[in-house]
Amino acid sequence: MVLGAGRGPLVNSSLRAAKAAGRKIRVYAVEKNPNAVVTLENWKAEEWGDRVTVVSCDMREWLAPEKADIIVSELLGSFGDNELSPECLDGAQRFLSEDGISIPREYTSYISPISSSKLYNEVRACREKDKDPEAHFEMPYVVRLHNYHELAKPQPCFTFVHPNSEPGKDNSRYKALEFPISTDTVLHGFAGYFETVLYKDVTLSIHPETHSPGMFSWFPILFPIKHPMPVRSGDTVCLRFWRCCNQQKVWYEWAITSPMTSVLHNPAGRSSTIGL
Ligand SMILES: C[S@@+](CC[C@H](N)C(=O)[O-])C[C@H]1O[C@@H](n2cnc3c(N)ncnc32)[C@H](O)[C@@H]1O
Repeated sequence: MVLGAGRGPLVNSSLRAAKAAGRKIRVYAVEKNPNAVVTLENWKAEEWGDRVTVVSCDMREWLAPEKADIIVSELLGSFGDNELSPECLDGAQRFLSEDGISIPREYTSYISPISSSKLYNEVRACREKDKDPEAHFEMPYVVRLHNYHELAKPQPCFTFVHPNSEPGKDNSRYKALEFPISTDTVLHGFAGYFETVLYKDVTLSIHPETHSPGMFSWFPILFPIKHPMPVRSGDTVCLRFWRCCNQQKVWYEWAITSPMTSVLHNPAGRSSTIGL
């Protein structure tokens, strides 16, 4: 089952992989976007035929007629879990057979403190009429990082594994991270990345140290801070980071508690949320 099949590239890959492995497969292509479903139906009519069943549905609501041996999805964002892959795959897990395989198997977000007056000024310039003047400092940005200085190596933040051994539990998380600083500079925010294990030793990464060669499907994510913070060599930046969930949405909150205390960014998801 290809969950979130979009315009069908993973369906084609699955069929190619089956051919290469000399296996017969049947594929369900599940997609909630009705515009993408039109493309999937065209593929079925012209190429796939009976091998593929197109399902126009949210995977969390679909009543699957049978259980899957393998579920394949591509629901990851630049920070791994920021496009609701955990919630979608938890919702789909009920139709994965007991010894079934999820591709991806797990993903971990990474985060590191950065100095970048350019990015700080660009975020500041996002100010919009009728919005809280600081709201744009309370949301993440997907950005190709150029003019920036990484102040410490990225550290792992949140990990999600599929199938989930506790699927009923919500996916909120909290992490406190300590970054040693070795220069006198100004902290402007945090850069985010992810690594994923697709299957066994097959991985994908946008973490700068393990970046998959030649892959440009994802750029890093930036979590800005409202007030640039001077830091000195020998300081420790302590970042507190939350992934929060309720019935309707998921959002991140962040604050610094060392070497100075910042405000809490995005409390209760007041400036940015991801709708469930
Ligand atoms: C990042 S895209 C990948 C699409 C595909 N790989 C492509 O290149 O066309 C994720 C896809 O998953 C679909 N999707 C997201 N959440 C879903 C859900 N809960 N149920 C079904 N489809 C979902 C989106 O509509 C989107 O088409």
